[in-house]
Amino acid sequence: LRAAKTEGPLAGRRVLVTSGPTHEPIDPVRVLANRSSGRQGHAIAAAAAKAGAEVVLVSGPVSLPDPASVTVVKVESAREMLAAVEAALPADLAVFAAAVADWRVAEGAEQKIKKGAGGPPSLALVENPDILATVSRGLARPQLVVGFAAETENVVEHARQKLERKGCDLIVANDVSPATGIMGGEANTVHLVSPGGVESWPAMSKEAVAEALVQRFAAALKVSG
Ligand code: CTP
Ligand code: CA
Repeated sequence: LRAAKTEGPLAGRRVLVTSGPTHEPIDPVRVLANRSSGRQGHAIAAAAAKAGAEVVLVSGPVSLPDPASVTVVKVESAREMLAAVEAALPADLAVFAAAVADWRVAEGAEQKIKKGAGGPPSLALVENPDILATVSRGLARPQLVVGFAAETENVVEHARQKLERKGCDLIVANDVSPATGIMGGEANTVHLVSPGGVESWPAMSKEAVAEALVQRFAAALKVSG
C-alpha cells in the first residue's frame, strides 16, 4: 500500500471501494457485461484518498485511468471481485459502487462457441455471490458499509428494501432509467437512504457527489468512533 496522508477527514482510515462492471465469461472471446462506466466508484476512491484515507479500489474492466494515490486491484468477474474484496479487508469503510453482474454462465465454454446447424446456443445462468451482503454480514464487517442501488423505477422504495436485505448502513440510490442519461454520463442525482430516512441531493457531477459523500462518511465514522 502507498503511504497515506496524515491529514484530512479520513486520515488514518482504511477504505475499500468497488467500481465498474463485472465481465462474466461465456467462452474465451465473449462475456456478459453491463453499461457501468466506473466513474462514480473511481471518483469516490479518488476523493477518499484526497481526504487522507488509505484506499484500495477493486475495479472491474473500465476505460478510466487509475486514481492518484490509490491501490488498484483489477478483476474481471464477480467471483474474482469477491475474492479481491475479502483479501483487502479489514477496512473502516467499504463502498460498493460496482455494478456486479447478477448472473454468470453456469459453465463457460473452454473453446469459442461456433455457429452451426444446431442454431443459437442457450445459456444457462446461475446467480453470482452478493459481495455487499457477504461483507456486510461477515466477521470482518467494516464499521461503515455503503451500498449503491441503480434503479429504473420506484427508486427510494427499492433502495429501502436493499438496505434491509443487505444489512448495510446506507444506500446511495440513483435513477438509471435510459431517459436520465446517468449510466455512463457525467452527472448523477442521488438519494441517500438510511434507517433514519431519505435525503435527496440535486444533480451534481460524479466528482461533486463523491466529495460530498466522502464528507458524510468521515462524519459518520467520527460519530461511531
Ligand atoms: N452488489 C454486490 N454483489 C452483487 C450484486 C450487487 O456487491 N452480486 C452490490 C452493488 O455493488 C450495490 C448493491 O449491491 O452496492 C446493490 O446492487 P443492485 O444491483 O442495485 O442490487 P441487487 O441486489 O443485485 O438487486 P437487483 O439488481 O435485482 O435490483
Ligand atoms: Ca443487480
